[in-house]
Amino acid sequence: MHRPQFLLLLCGGPATGKTSAASALLGALPPGYRVVHIQTDAIRMMVYNRRHSRRESRMVYEMLRICSQVALTNGYSVIADATFTKRRDRQVFAKLAHKAGSNFLSAKLHCSLRLAMLRNSQRSGSKFVPKEKLISMHNSYEDDAFSLVLDTGSLKPEAIAHLLLQRLGFESPESSLGSVSG
Ligand SMILES: Nc1ncnc2c1ncn2[C@@H]1O[C@H](COP(=O)(O)OP(=O)(O)OP(=O)(O)O)[C@@H](O)[C@H]1O
Ligand SMILES: [Mg+2]
Repeated sequence: MHRPQFLLLLCGGPATGKTSAASALLGALPPGYRVVHIQTDAIRMMVYNRRHSRRESRMVYEMLRICSQVALTNGYSVIADATFTKRRDRQVFAKLAHKAGSNFLSAKLHCSLRLAMLRNSQRSGSKFVPKEKLISMHNSYEDDAFSLVLDTGSLKPEAIAHLLLQRLGFESPESSLGSVSG
């Protein structure tokens, strides 16, 4: 079976379920499939040794773009796991995929602010996002032009992985596991 190369953006505010979806997708891809999962959180921790740094956000997205470009050039697919609050950041990655001749998919993961806050309250250490920051990111999200929008309040990470595999051309559509738009 032909296994297309892809650049997948997993977008959404804090605690909406991006990393959980990425893990489920990694587990569902065919064994040996060449893919990397790159998170802005990990880049921030590596470079700045802290998870939240609004001032350096531009540089973190630039690093994510460069890492993604290197991976695509070397024949790897990319799961880019970041808030992607700004439309222009998503557009930069769409162009990158186009240049590399890779499939591009931007998936917005969302849940209610209430549920995101509940999930966030159950986290500790550097994983916890200050409440005001979570609310402000939720409210300032530039919310349009996604390939698909997935509700993590009703879809489990495994169901999301299944839907993503279909859209990426790894599985043919079959049973409906939840609502998809876009
Ligand atoms: N689809 C889901 N269904 C139920 N619970 C979920 C789902 N996705 C994530 N969760 C739970 O929500 C919490 C936050 O998930 P996760 O860390 O994946 O979010 P995130 O979007 O990567 O957050 P951040 O932006 O802070 O990195 C976790 O405790 C996880 O178990
Ligand atoms: Mg995460």
